[in-house]
Amino acid sequence: MDYDRAKEVKAFDDTKAGVKGLVDAGTMNIPGIFIRSPEEIAQDLSCLTIPLQVPVIDLSGTEKDDRRRRKIVDEIRIASEKWGFFRVVNHGIPLSVLSEMMNGVRAFHEQPSEVKQEFYSGDRMKKVRLVTNSELYLSRSVNWRDTMNISLLFSDHLHPDELPLACRDSTIEYIKDVSELGDTIFELLSEALGLKPNHLRDMECSKGRGFSCHYYPACPEPDLTLGTNKHSDPTFITILLQDQTGGLQVVHDNRWVDVQPIVGSLVVNIGDTLQIISNNKFKSAVHRVRANSDRPRISVACFFTAFAASSKLYGPIEEIASEESPPVYREFLVSEYISNYYNCRALNTSGLDHFKL
Ligand code: OGA
Ligand code: NI
Repeated sequence: MDYDRAKEVKAFDDTKAGVKGLVDAGTMNIPGIFIRSPEEIAQDLSCLTIPLQVPVIDLSGTEKDDRRRRKIVDEIRIASEKWGFFRVVNHGIPLSVLSEMMNGVRAFHEQPSEVKQEFYSGDRMKKVRLVTNSELYLSRSVNWRDTMNISLLFSDHLHPDELPLACRDSTIEYIKDVSELGDTIFELLSEALGLKPNHLRDMECSKGRGFSCHYYPACPEPDLTLGTNKHSDPTFITILLQDQTGGLQVVHDNRWVDVQPIVGSLVVNIGDTLQIISNNKFKSAVHRVRANSDRPRISVACFFTAFAASSKLYGPIEEIASEESPPVYREFLVSEYISNYYNCRALNTSGLDHFKL
């Protein structure tokens, strides 16, 4: 069985046409490699999502006056402790930059297969590459999704010519704007942890950035598979741009809650490494994306982490860990964290346990 499965995954990978290629070929029954276990499917069919709202935080006026800033910092602290997920509005990135980014990602994925195949690659060291799933060969069920990854994890230098023509200008603009927003959010998070505003930036938590430009084709059998399996992110934070389709869900109080799209908003979530350095004060929430049969969904995740080759050690921040709450994790290199993470993700386990003291 396993041998056949590996062969099927390889055959699919060799087409270099991704999930979009299957849909374009008129596939009505999804191939076995995408199908989840019967237990998992049954569990989802029997459990309802709860109609709770993921917090929405208005970032306008962070620089205006101290009272306004303290209120925002407080909202971020509560959302990061209780949810690990929040949506931000009035974040300063123009709506036109967000929609151009979406349009560019759509144009990239919807161009003829021969053109985008040039970027299809399993080589993690490549700065720009098209994949179906990063952990294609490891995971138990392949996700109904294609992704264009842009890695600034080894260097922050990116020449425009390295980007696909279909989304070049919009991507350059979005990377600039979302990186600035990341800096603002790291300042607010530092304050929410009771630290100086530049604490997390000085720790180089936002130096390495990775972008996943996801395209989730409409799926003929959406309950059998997922757009993205449940996982937490191996980042300090992630900022996500999603279209109006919906499908993103987060675990809250052991139940799935929909992260409803709001026009012009961005989703921010705490990743595993911020949970670790905050010594469990902030939560890295488990999330996933459901497949849908109506229309393709587009999202862009910006992952903030340290440079992958950084020799800095990360562990619970001294000012946070105290006698009442001693460090729960040991120190580690970001590269060590990431290599452990992909194994855990494929096995559906948390990447945190490995570093617990
Ligand atoms: C991710 C992720 C969610 C989405 O890329 O890690 O969780 O909505 N993406 O695409
Ligand atoms: Ni994620």
